[in-house]
Amino acid sequence: MVEMLAAPPPLTARPAWQALRAHARHTEGDHLRDLFAADPTRGTRLTAEAAGIYLDYSKQRVSDRTLELLIRLAESSGLPGRVEAMFAGDVVNVTERRAALHVALRAPRSASIHVDGVDVVPEVHDVLERMGRFASDVRDGTWRGFTGRRIRTVVNIGIGGSDLGPRMAAEALRHYSDRSIEVRFVSNVDGTNFVEATRDLDASETLFIVSSKSFTTAETMANAGAARAWVVEALGDASAVGRHFVAVSTNAEAVRAFGIGDEQTFGFWDWVGGRYSLPSAVGLSTMIAIGPEQFRELLAGYHAMDEHFRSAPLAENVPALHGLLTVWNTSFLGMGSMAVVPYDEYLGSFPAYLQQLTMESNGKRVTESGEPVGHATGPVVWGERGTNGQHSFFQQLHQGTATVPCDLIGFLEPLNPVGAQHDLLMAHLFAQSEALAFGKTAAQLQGEGSPEWLVPHRVSPGNRPTSTLLLDRLTPYSLGSLIALYEHSVFTQGVIWGIDSFDQWGVELGKQIAASILEGFDDASAGARDSSTTELMRRYRERRGGSAVPTARR
Ligand code: F6P
Repeated sequence: MVEMLAAPPPLTARPAWQALRAHARHTEGDHLRDLFAADPTRGTRLTAEAAGIYLDYSKQRVSDRTLELLIRLAESSGLPGRVEAMFAGDVVNVTERRAALHVALRAPRSASIHVDGVDVVPEVHDVLERMGRFASDVRDGTWRGFTGRRIRTVVNIGIGGSDLGPRMAAEALRHYSDRSIEVRFVSNVDGTNFVEATRDLDASETLFIVSSKSFTTAETMANAGAARAWVVEALGDASAVGRHFVAVSTNAEAVRAFGIGDEQTFGFWDWVGGRYSLPSAVGLSTMIAIGPEQFRELLAGYHAMDEHFRSAPLAENVPALHGLLTVWNTSFLGMGSMAVVPYDEYLGSFPAYLQQLTMESNGKRVTESGEPVGHATGPVVWGERGTNGQHSFFQQLHQGTATVPCDLIGFLEPLNPVGAQHDLLMAHLFAQSEALAFGKTAAQLQGEGSPEWLVPHRVSPGNRPTSTLLLDRLTPYSLGSLIALYEHSVFTQGVIWGIDSFDQWGVELGKQIAASILEGFDDASAGARDSSTTELMRRYRERRGGSAVPTARR
């Protein structure tokens, strides 16, 4: 049972919070046009830089006073101490009574970080080395399938944190990958995912990575079972499994029970949350794709941002500032959603990755001690690559009734220069940040000779906040630092809000109900339910065939 923690005074009663509330009311009418006009240095001053990322937050609706108050809020929330606690391996995941020590996954070998008196850094590096040997063997053909053929396709089977990170990274780092080995992903329990992912594959050249922290997740276990049957059927021998499956998990016993031996299992630890697990063995598919050295570069990028987050003063701390701005927009300006728009084709899956990172972490309604929070927490995060998003949802960002802050992410150098297209791409990025901030007034439109009747339709109010994140080039290193920025931003938000950013109790209920509904498909007497679910089930059962309908309960 989870013990109740002593409740600290409510956040909303603290002077720093109240000062920010008053400040938000007082500055409600301020427009970014006026803020920029009043301070020509704003665009260079309200910026910060770390680990290869330049953050321009001058187009956020903040002043020096806002920042001062936000930093005061961070200090009064004990952010610096909580950062130290996380890096020291303290139990910062209070409801699951665990450390959240993803920073140890990218710590150099010379570091030492203790959990329950044990230095975890040597274990981390041992696993990385095993992964490195295996990845190299697959890449150079030393590791072969059951019939002696080279591995041409690696299929990662996993869901949530065991899918979204490696899926995003495989796409993001495709430029650096060995094109003779294709990496695919199966996550959905919809059989279509497995069938479409394997329909053109030769089992003798396919390696499955079954990736699951718990090794009990229903979707992953179902897909892993389908993959095992597919391999055995295609190769006609159950012992083929040994050459075509590896596992990534913290649950060695369940992996063995599935039929994958210890020598083919890459472990990690309960202090790594699923959504923070890409730099652990969960990144094995990424390592096979880009090679061990480039994977080390990815970890180096993460680590550079970790060190910055741990040591930089709050006023210059990129992840802390990013997190504080999110708190400001969400809890004080009432913006319940946030868009992330990467201007890079390779980062197409980055918004989906951030959805789990941010929404599973900060989609919480009670504090660590179980009290209702009393204010808005984690925003809905969504997005699409630029420029594609501009031709779908940007209309609403410019002229809709809700204000949605955006992160616009761009790279100074293209990886695939084609004519002058990178100029066009970057021009669009900068144009969106300018248009969202400053908009266009009726007077400007009239001055341009717009017909009067069209003016109200064409007015763009502006004052829509954006942060621009500029990086030199998309590399394993810069991807690592970008991910770590968001991880630590999420942590910062969670500390301010006083919530546990590392648990995810909300997802359990649906899993339990699904298990009981599944029983009800075969056994109509299992569990009476509400009239809606009963009827939905009846319609399904009628089509699939089965016994009588369960009775309605409410
Ligand atoms: O259902 C949510 C969740 O627990 C995520 O937090 C996690 O990333 C995902 O399921 C997959 O879990 P596992 O790696 O244990 O299969």
